[in-house]
Amino acid sequence: MNNAKLPQTKMEFKNLTPDVKIAVLGLGTWSMGGGIRSRNTAYDKENIRAIKTAIELGMTHIDTAEMYGGGHAEELVGEAIKSFDREKLFITTKVLPENLRYNDVISAAQRSLQALKTDYIDLYLVHIPNPAIPIEQTMQAFDFLKEKGLIRFIGVSNFTVVQLKEAQMCTRNKIVANQIEYSLLVRNEGNEYINNMESEVIPYCQENDTMVVAYRPLARGRLSKPGIKVLDELARKYGKTQAQIAINWLISKDKIITIPKTSNLEHLQEDIGALGWQLEPEDMHKLDKETG
Ligand SMILES: NC(=O)c1ccc[n+]([C@@H]2O[C@H](COP(=O)([O-])OP(=O)(O)OC[C@H]3O[C@@H](n4cnc5c(N)ncnc54)[C@H](OP(=O)(O)O)[C@@H]3O)[C@@H](O)[C@H]2O)c1
Repeated sequence: MNNAKLPQTKMEFKNLTPDVKIAVLGLGTWSMGGGIRSRNTAYDKENIRAIKTAIELGMTHIDTAEMYGGGHAEELVGEAIKSFDREKLFITTKVLPENLRYNDVISAAQRSLQALKTDYIDLYLVHIPNPAIPIEQTMQAFDFLKEKGLIRFIGVSNFTVVQLKEAQMCTRNKIVANQIEYSLLVRNEGNEYINNMESEVIPYCQENDTMVVAYRPLARGRLSKPGIKVLDELARKYGKTQAQIAINWLISKDKIITIPKTSNLEHLQEDIGALGWQLEPEDMHKLDKETG
């Protein structure tokens, strides 16, 4: 793929807060740089190239975590973003569930800043709730990091409504996002962390100005292949791919943005092609009814 020939995408944005917008489509980085806590440097060149190309094509939001590749995914993001105007980017990273004690959060954030080669994290998330550590400790550390200007916004991931309410009570700052698994194939039944996404979590977030960041939007690639009848039909109707329909369905919903991962430049271009058009309301309903 020759980037010079590609027009920049017209990115679409939603309000994260009344004053700050976030791109509806960001780039995920899970599996770049290794597995859960295990580093793999074999594909560094391809992964850095994918992140840089995503930014060149107009993507501004990059999602990573200290968990991914034992910190190596953050290093790859740091390497990829260093030649871009930092202020135009929006970097999300996450603190591990075992690092949620006050001092551990501060140390984890410092390590992430170093790996990302940046002075601040735009959105810092509690990756997974940990009932063994009082959430007050974590939120107080988040408040400290925000006061010091090391993080711009605070958020959570894999939180139920009860956990979200409890976390919000322990911080002076607004929790602006809850990152949860949500896609055409993972609906109300949820995963090991939360369920009732459509009946509880998403409506609560929508009513309380908390952005839902949908992770695994392509169900780890399963939604990018033919074989789901309604998706195949709509792909034909719109002249789009199954992946583009699946992403468009998510970002057409109020207060939902998403972060598909790809290290493949053709897939990247395809995922970006989910922007710039919209599923008709009747087809949104059809997908709502006939998947999940
Ligand atoms: N907060 C959490 O607990 C949590 C949990 C899981 C994930 N996440 C975040 O959410 C991001 C997305 O989730 P995910 O990576 O698990 O799953 P995903 O985005 O649903 O799927 C990624 C997989 O789909 C493939 N893919 C992407 N675009 C494609 C296309 N157009 N055609 C064919 N295949 C395509 C990718 O392979 P190629 O690279 O080969 O394209 C990769 O194998 C993660 O990267 C991570 O940043 C957060």
